[in-house]
Amino acid sequence: MVNENLKTAPDDSHRIATTDDIEVSTYLEIAKEMGGEQPAATEEAVSGAEREAIIVLDFGSQYSLLIARRVRECQVYCELLPHDTPWEKIVPLNPKGFILSGGPASVYAPDAPLAPAYVYESHLPVLGICYGMQVITKQLGGQVTPGTKREYGHAILHLSEVDSPLFTALPDSTPVWMSHGDKIEEMPPDFSTLAYTENSPFAVIGNGSGIFGLQFHPEVAHTPEGKTILRNFVYRICGCRGNWKMGNFVSESMDRIKEQVGSGKVILALSGGVDSSVVATLIHRAVGDQLTCIFVNNGLLRREEAERTLKVFQTNLGMNIIYVDATDRFLDRLKGVIDPEQKRKIIGEEFIRVFEEEASKIGKVNFLAQGTLYPDVIESVSSISTASAKIKSHHNVGGLPAKMTLNLLEPLRYLFKDEVRQVGAELGLPEEIVWRQPFPGPGLAIRCVGEVTKEKLEILRGADFILMNEIKKAKYYRQLWQSFCVITDVKSVGVMGDYRTYSYLIAIRAVTSDDVMTADWARLPYDLLARISNRIVNVVPEVNRVVYDITSKPPSTIEWE
Ligand code: XMP
Repeated sequence: MVNENLKTAPDDSHRIATTDDIEVSTYLEIAKEMGGEQPAATEEAVSGAEREAIIVLDFGSQYSLLIARRVRECQVYCELLPHDTPWEKIVPLNPKGFILSGGPASVYAPDAPLAPAYVYESHLPVLGICYGMQVITKQLGGQVTPGTKREYGHAILHLSEVDSPLFTALPDSTPVWMSHGDKIEEMPPDFSTLAYTENSPFAVIGNGSGIFGLQFHPEVAHTPEGKTILRNFVYRICGCRGNWKMGNFVSESMDRIKEQVGSGKVILALSGGVDSSVVATLIHRAVGDQLTCIFVNNGLLRREEAERTLKVFQTNLGMNIIYVDATDRFLDRLKGVIDPEQKRKIIGEEFIRVFEEEASKIGKVNFLAQGTLYPDVIESVSSISTASAKIKSHHNVGGLPAKMTLNLLEPLRYLFKDEVRQVGAELGLPEEIVWRQPFPGPGLAIRCVGEVTKEKLEILRGADFILMNEIKKAKYYRQLWQSFCVITDVKSVGVMGDYRTYSYLIAIRAVTSDDVMTADWARLPYDLLARISNRIVNVVPEVNRVVYDITSKPPSTIEWE
């Protein structure tokens, strides 16, 4: 069988980070509600004399964050900022160049967003992508007109200026991904065409003073040489040296944590997910026992999860951990509840209560550490938000603690998920933690269709344990965005030996995804699926039927609830 989407699915290092780990979604909310202070300005992220950054000015494209990711993959620090960010906020980052993102607007509309004057007056290199190119065209005296038809999809780019530094190491012709309605009618004075496609005579333009425009999207996977173009821009045109390395990040970040925390005390909710684990380890390295982690077992974790997390952080790393088994509290409150949103709300509320109770026993605490990542920061300051966020509440917080007033410690707030994994590896965390698939805050409760009972949870854990085991053995774990079992509320008839059975139906869900907003069901090999199904029905007696979910997102979501 051909595993189409697995072969083409990007590996984890190409993922876009999400808010799916418990710590991100929960604690951002807690801290906001607690009135916690936001950390210092963005320049904190890059330190030292070598500081250099590429600034992506965001005009609202769905790919804007991806541009920043691609630049970071070139080891150059990059921030995505709103298109109207004032110059004073940009200077401390020591910008080496600007990228103007794509966007949904039309430059000839009366209120069309444009680039601030400093973009041109700073004499730094500029790369406009799609709408960004049209912005440059309009602002520098060219002409943009509405396209008669939208150009969407693949095109072949032909280079006319093969010697342009933007094209170093590029073949003469290469596929690119187009997605635009408006088009350039007339280039600004002093600009020339550097490359063209069949439908776009101005597919790449430039002016010889470091200002370029691309009609296509170099940041998407469908433009295979896109990263080479971006790399050429940041290295050959902006003169960046590529000092954004995770090894540097670890030592610089530890220094900053020491300075910020002083002799204060820090608390952190540890979930065992990669974000909270990396934050915990980083802070522990910096300030040792001044950090206390609270690990709440809500009774909705997977098999052996609590034990494994404690073993790594308490036994092996010697961290100060308060372990709370609050299983009964959570399950009591979930009795009779079948509505998924209600489940989320209850779990969120109860979590805060437990956390608050435990934190109050520690005495005076000054900081709340949390694993906020860069996409969460972006999401909170711009209008970029995931479609899924509107479909599910996606957080675990109901009632929030009002009593605590803590400062926030968010050492990962400038990192993407794949960078967090690199930091985890730098810190020597076990692979099992560094590469953990996202696990939702409400845990198994939203994989237990209908009422959450101890019995159903145990069955689900048994099946899920087998699935994980087989997926890892077959070396699919890292290729999959997520893989898990769902216990349905359906029982069906089966036959085992000479007996009729009437037992639970388990569904397997395994998806690949780039950005969590869309996901494809993974084309797992039949023999792997057969092995998983066979083992589940043989080892978990309450299950007599296993099905594989072959729906993508959209129209489905990744989780069943
Ligand atoms: P859906 O099901 O919306 O999930 O496609 C997208 C991603 O979000 C995770 N997820 C959650 N994470 N609290 C979380 O912390 C939640 O309530 C929640 N619901 C879904 C899901 O596992 C997937 O990674």
